Amino acid sequence: MKDIFEKLHDKMGPLGMHADDAHGYFTFPKLEGPIGPRMKFRGVEKLNWSLNNYLGLANHPDVMKADSDAATQFGMAYPMGARIMSGNSNYHEQLERDLADFIHKPDVIVLNYGYQGVVSAIDALIDRHDVVVYDAESHACIIDGLRLHLGKRFVFKHNNVEDCEKQLVRATKLAEETGGGVLVITEGVFGMSGSQGKIKEIVDLKKKFNFRLFVDDAHGFGTMGRTGAGTGEEQGCQDGIDIYFSTFAKSMAGIGAFIGSDPHVIKFLRYNMRSQIYAKALPMPMVVGSIKRLEMIRTQPEHKENLWKIVHALQGGLKEAGFNIGITTTPVTPVLLNGTIPEATHLTYDLRENYNIFCSIVVYPVVPKGVIMLRLIPTAVHTLEDVEITINAFKSVKSKLDSGEYRHEKLAAVN
Ligand SMILES: Cc1ncc(COP(=O)(O)O)c(C=O)c1O
Repeated sequence: MKDIFEKLHDKMGPLGMHADDAHGYFTFPKLEGPIGPRMKFRGVEKLNWSLNNYLGLANHPDVMKADSDAATQFGMAYPMGARIMSGNSNYHEQLERDLADFIHKPDVIVLNYGYQGVVSAIDALIDRHDVVVYDAESHACIIDGLRLHLGKRFVFKHNNVEDCEKQLVRATKLAEETGGGVLVITEGVFGMSGSQGKIKEIVDLKKKFNFRLFVDDAHGFGTMGRTGAGTGEEQGCQDGIDIYFSTFAKSMAGIGAFIGSDPHVIKFLRYNMRSQIYAKALPMPMVVGSIKRLEMIRTQPEHKENLWKIVHALQGGLKEAGFNIGITTTPVTPVLLNGTIPEATHLTYDLRENYNIFCSIVVYPVVPKGVIMLRLIPTAVHTLEDVEITINAFKSVKSKLDSGEYRHEKLAAVN
């Protein structure tokens, strides 16, 4: 019999296979100093485009004060249990009411983490008779939730409403046989490409098919829509979203998440989501801090306005300079270049060491072979000067890439 640890040496996985060469630089980098557009990487200040701190709230003095006052008052331990047992509080319930008002849903459940929340909500909502139709490029938490599903699921081509309809025909037929229902799952904003899910068109399919719609709006909450209520508000179809999910990890610059839906759905989730029943509630500083963040999002539109000013300058400037930024219509800004994985590492190394710009680099298998994606996340606290510096640096590294300067057999040596 084999020791299960044996295979771990040669099966490190698609990311782990680069661990020895990339650790600490391309993977697990440490950004130090106050959170913001300028942070230290390996002791040197970099212009940073790699934090999902869309509204710039992470380091806002009012947010820091709310977090630290709550930590002083309650400590980090309180409440000491799952909400169903001993971990409920007036603050958790107030946050739920505030969120429900903000996203225009009758009720909300606050979740201790987003990833587990989605996995566990999908697990709770559907049984083996139900059929799921979901977008091919769904986030890992959706895919992992579906791994628990004992019934059938049909995937539709990414953001392809025609294919979604085709899969709905199959799903409807099957659900009629099994006696179950149909759940469609997609995202408000796809976090790699920055494209919006076709929520409105999918909602329109409800005229032809009987299904419920679950939308993961992790990147849309706070950034999209007139008030920041998300992609449903942006597309004018919030009412058609039956289960609205977002995390606190992006616009809210915190940790935790929530789901908004009808009261009977939320009541069911409170009593059936295993990730909430069998795990500790969100600690008080995060809850009180989230109430503060939400109040700021609601009453201080300047954060979203600043974000979009930077988004427009960055995306407009990149396009003007001839860069391919794909089909983004949201703050997520991918810059698509052509090259090998070693070229991607040499370009990124140059960008970080010689131009002092830190952004994420995405390569195969997340994007097709031969594509290098540099992913920029603009925030409300970047400046127009940051944008200009970045576009000039990108022009320079692109011309080096095109002239073959980064052509190497091996990944950039970084240690
Ligand atoms: C689309 C999407 N869904 C869910 C999550 C998970 O949220 P959390 O970080 O709160 O676990 C993320 C990442 O944060 C995400 O990008």
